[in-house]
Amino acid sequence: MFWTGLLLLFLQHVVAWHSDDDLMSFVTLPDVRAVKFDITYQDRERVAPGYWFVSPYLHIEPDEPTSLYEQYQVGPHIYDQDGHLVWTGSPMFDNRNVFDFKVINSFGNEPHISLILQYANDDSERGFGMILDKNYEVSRKIPLRPDLGAFDIHEFNVLKDGKTAVATVYLTEEISLAEFGRPEEQTWLETGGFAEIDLNTAEVTYEWRSYNQIPLQETVHYLPDSVPEGPPGWDYVHINSVDKNDNGDYLISMRFTNTLYLISGVDGHIIWRLGGQQNGDFAQDFIFSKQHDAKFLESSGTRHVISFLNNASDEENAEEEVSSALIIEVESGTVPMTARVLHRYNRPDGSLTRLRGNAQVLPNQNMFVCWSQGGYISEFSSEGDTLMSAQFTSPRYSNYRAYKFEFTGRPHTPPDVVSSVFGTDETNLVTTFWVSWNGATDIASWNFYAQASQFDKPVFVGNTSKVDFETMFIAKGYLDWITVEAVDRDGNAFGISAVHRTTFPSWEASGWTGYSSTPRPLNPATIYQGDGSILATEKASEDGFFSVADGTADAQLKKATVTLMNTYETIRSIGGLFALILLLAVMSGILASYMLLRGWRVRLYQRAPLEEGLPEEEAQLRPGMDD
Ligand SMILES: *[C@@H]1O[C@H](CO)[C@@H](O)[C@H](O)[C@H]1NC(C)=O
Ligand SMILES: *[C@@H]1O[C@H](CO)[C@@H](O)[C@H](O)[C@H]1NC(C)=O
Repeated sequence: MFWTGLLLLFLQHVVAWHSDDDLMSFVTLPDVRAVKFDITYQDRERVAPGYWFVSPYLHIEPDEPTSLYEQYQVGPHIYDQDGHLVWTGSPMFDNRNVFDFKVINSFGNEPHISLILQYANDDSERGFGMILDKNYEVSRKIPLRPDLGAFDIHEFNVLKDGKTAVATVYLTEEISLAEFGRPEEQTWLETGGFAEIDLNTAEVTYEWRSYNQIPLQETVHYLPDSVPEGPPGWDYVHINSVDKNDNGDYLISMRFTNTLYLISGVDGHIIWRLGGQQNGDFAQDFIFSKQHDAKFLESSGTRHVISFLNNASDEENAEEEVSSALIIEVESGTVPMTARVLHRYNRPDGSLTRLRGNAQVLPNQNMFVCWSQGGYISEFSSEGDTLMSAQFTSPRYSNYRAYKFEFTGRPHTPPDVVSSVFGTDETNLVTTFWVSWNGATDIASWNFYAQASQFDKPVFVGNTSKVDFETMFIAKGYLDWITVEAVDRDGNAFGISAVHRTTFPSWEASGWTGYSSTPRPLNPATIYQGDGSILATEKASEDGFFSVADGTADAQLKKATVTLMNTYETIRSIGGLFALILLLAVMSGILASYMLLRGWRVRLYQRAPLEEGLPEEEAQLRPGMDD
């Protein structure tokens, strides 16, 4: 027993390291391996509606180019609240890192998506702030003015008027260490700043940088005797967020000074400091450090309500026991100025976020927080009850910021469809459809169609609800020339695939024992009655289709199909070719037992010789042709 247990443990360990079942795989999008989520709901009733917007990355810096084949794993992804994939933008951005991926409601008349495309590994591209429409097409691709360096990954914040965005900026310059009492010495210094950018012209309409505004003494990252560095130099403030209020002033977060600053939009002076080494300008009832993502929730006159992530620790130090998202109220019109906590949301697992993260107040006042490492996210009620936590199944990936938004995605690309026919002779052929539609939200069900040839009318062969990113459907008979249509919850069709041909196995090598050496596709119009059911007439059996009169056998087929679907779900996670082989094996098994059950009481397909002057597929489908 003990040894078995140990062996199992060992095997599990090995599997955990070497398996790829922490990634999704799809028949319709074989190049995509999206990251899976493990999800726990404490109170599903109270979570806000919406999709998760996340951008998994493996490495925070761009990867070296490789000539090895890579499946699409990183970049922008939308998931539903069950962790089903809704959109992968990984192919669109070629597996590059994307950050700050979210919905913006201030640009144009419809919701859009904004994101930061990270600079390229070889610096051939310096990164962009990008805006996509609901079709996932690029509305704006905004470079940073070249002298401001690469587009920084922390923040691309499209402002409320939809005309400009603020972005964080990192610049480097050589400075004297006079402020640290070492006037003869020089170091390179990374200054943190921000730029406000016009979304139509990419012009910088306002810029600010920390050097000469934030003295070296405010950093907690360097000491007066720290060793000077060459470029890019001391990252002494580490700006990681910027927001702007209606008054035109900017709120910035500097992680390496543990301080939030309000910067005047008129002349760039620091209006106030919250937190920091000298305890800032406020009397306050809380501490915070290494904070992220400071955003105005309200700001009028001297009163500001601000949300931010207080990760309370960094690679070097921990100042508090647990990271938290905070909503604070700042009053700068009193003497002394005051700041107090309105809400505090502690990390549900009671630990510290050591990297990145963000906090988003949802329209119903729930708080949605990304704790970053491992893709850990959670949603709280406004009173602070934990409603949901989730994290990537794989520890290999992280995510900087995660958001939750309602969104309607309508890709211009059609649904992706694959269909294959399986069977061992003419009596037991089935056509299996797989369909997905990357980025289309609100699909309730799928309609499946087949047609006799490219030019014939599509015949409805069945429908099924959509439960996951990819849906599988099994129809009786060998159906070629197929299409699949998306239907919303009101029953309206809103998108249809291209016409696809059904792939078939190497019949000879796969155990085919049929009457003809190669099975021929059906004319679906002679078999399917238009509501998805099958004609139980002489005509149908003449056409080579098995009779459906045998109720027990039909029930058996249903049962077998359910088993097959379950098996498909299970083995799909294994992924790739192996899954397909397994699937085929299981399928042949089921079909074989079905045939046994049915006692082979079926009519065979007729052999149809080629007709002169008709395209081959069409000729194959002419019903009622005798030898
Ligand atoms: C905060 O994040 C930074 C980096 O993003 C990290 O270095 C630091 O350890 C984290 N701690 C907190 C509390 O954020
Ligand atoms: C399939 O279509 C029929 C007829 O339109 C409809 O009544 C049924 O609800 C649909 N089934 C699914 C799963 O959508």
